[in-house]
Amino acid sequence: MVVNPANPAPASPPLPALAVKPQHVAIIMDGNGRWAQSQGLSRSDGHRAGADAIRPVIRRFAEHQVPVVTLFGFSTENWGRPKAEIETILKLGAEFIDSHLDELNQNGVRVAHLGGTDRLPIWLRRRVKKAVEATSHNDGILVNLAFNYGGRDEILDAVKRMLADGLKPGDVTPEALEARLTTAGLPDVDLLVRTGGEQRVSNFLVWQSTYAEYYFTPKFWPEFDPEEVDAALLEFAHRHRRFGLVAPDEGD
Ligand code: FPP
Repeated sequence: MVVNPANPAPASPPLPALAVKPQHVAIIMDGNGRWAQSQGLSRSDGHRAGADAIRPVIRRFAEHQVPVVTLFGFSTENWGRPKAEIETILKLGAEFIDSHLDELNQNGVRVAHLGGTDRLPIWLRRRVKKAVEATSHNDGILVNLAFNYGGRDEILDAVKRMLADGLKPGDVTPEALEARLTTAGLPDVDLLVRTGGEQRVSNFLVWQSTYAEYYFTPKFWPEFDPEEVDAALLEFAHRHRRFGLVAPDEGD
């Protein structure tokens, strides 16, 4: 990424060589609240630190030439959080776009949104639309921002679209459904990273992560940095993926 002179990025550590790279990395940025508590800070401070952690992480994935990164910013379940916390997270999303859009654009980053926009406040909807439109012709890393996203809702919406399109039961195929997901045309998730020590998927990209490799780290999201990116990618490169098949050297 181009370095913004007002906020210079630290020099990147050398890139480790990777034999295999994921085409799509999905990240559940968990642990902002617990990180804040561990520092004697408020949950809002934790989310702010979480938002600050995003830029160097995107930059590192771009350096590794990972083509697609999807960030779970706000889930359909997160609406159940206290109103003030919801507002803090959504405002940080808007601020992230305001403060980083030019730089993302300069670096060829394409931004897309996953999730329903109907429930998002108008000021965030506008920012998201602006970011998506302003970066739509870029051909660098694609960063999907998932705000008001839920995997089950996404699948249900796709089913409703198939019905609305008049598909007969025999036409209901994985391809027909995938073409109606918000991730249509994107590669499946190869690597799903969750910070904060919890080992669950929490309704994130459930269809797309069927054969993902999971990488769970106890680090809280604000602590996740370029070296953590390298560690996750190195671990991925050592996994043996079989997709339900038998490896050639596993015959009887
Ligand atoms: C989970 O931590 C984090 C979230 C629900 C919000 C993530 C939001 C950001 C990082 C800021 C804005 C996002 C973007 C994409 C610009 P938690 O609050 O559940 O942490 P805890 O489990 O420790 O309480």
